[in-house]
Amino acid sequence: MVKTVVLVSGGGTNLQAILDSLADGRIKNCEIAAVISSSPDAYALTRAEKAGVPTRVVDVKEYPDRQRYTDAIERVCLEVGAELIVLAGFLYVLSPSFSETYENKVINIHPALIPSFCGNGAYGLRVHKKALAYGVKVSGATSHFVVAEADAGPIILQKAVKVEEDDTPEVLQRRIMEQAEWKILPESISLFCQGRLVVEGRRVRILPEVNE
Ligand code: GAR
Repeated sequence: MVKTVVLVSGGGTNLQAILDSLADGRIKNCEIAAVISSSPDAYALTRAEKAGVPTRVVDVKEYPDRQRYTDAIERVCLEVGAELIVLAGFLYVLSPSFSETYENKVINIHPALIPSFCGNGAYGLRVHKKALAYGVKVSGATSHFVVAEADAGPIILQKAVKVEEDDTPEVLQRRIMEQAEWKILPESISLFCQGRLVVEGRRVRILPEVNE
């Protein structure tokens, strides 16, 4: 079982998709060692507690700078023996030292088709506001490995979602969550935990499933 830490900041619908996929066997060979929240008020914490998963709060407001916040998160990850870290609606960019310690072991879900509408300042609803303002007809979600630069790491999975005529950012966000994020994030975790992701430069090769 791959010891996995999930980082969250808010509602935790992606965390819920992970918990549900673990419960029904869609994610294989994975155990959640801890859910770490950047805020004590995140509803994601309640979701984790209901599922019987250990939770920790590393409150971003209690740290003077990004490096010290990153170090605090890293200490918890080391303490619980994390082998995979998943950013599931975690809305802070950690210092480069984190992705260096956990090279090709940190997976993020981003609510757009990278390289569109991503990078510093593109998170949550802001992403969908940008997509609608630009006028794209298709958006979607991307799972990727985390590198020092925000949203710039090797892409694992992407799924496109249609933009409808009267979409608001909220409506588009919900459709992208339902049709893309809640599917490709659990699938990416399962692929990682089965040892089926091979990073070759910017490209991620997905190995076929081995049937025992
Ligand atoms: C999700 O749409 C996730 O993709 C996004 O924040 C939302 C969190 O929702 N993450 C980013 O924008 C990261 N750049 P959730 O807490 O319900 O999973």
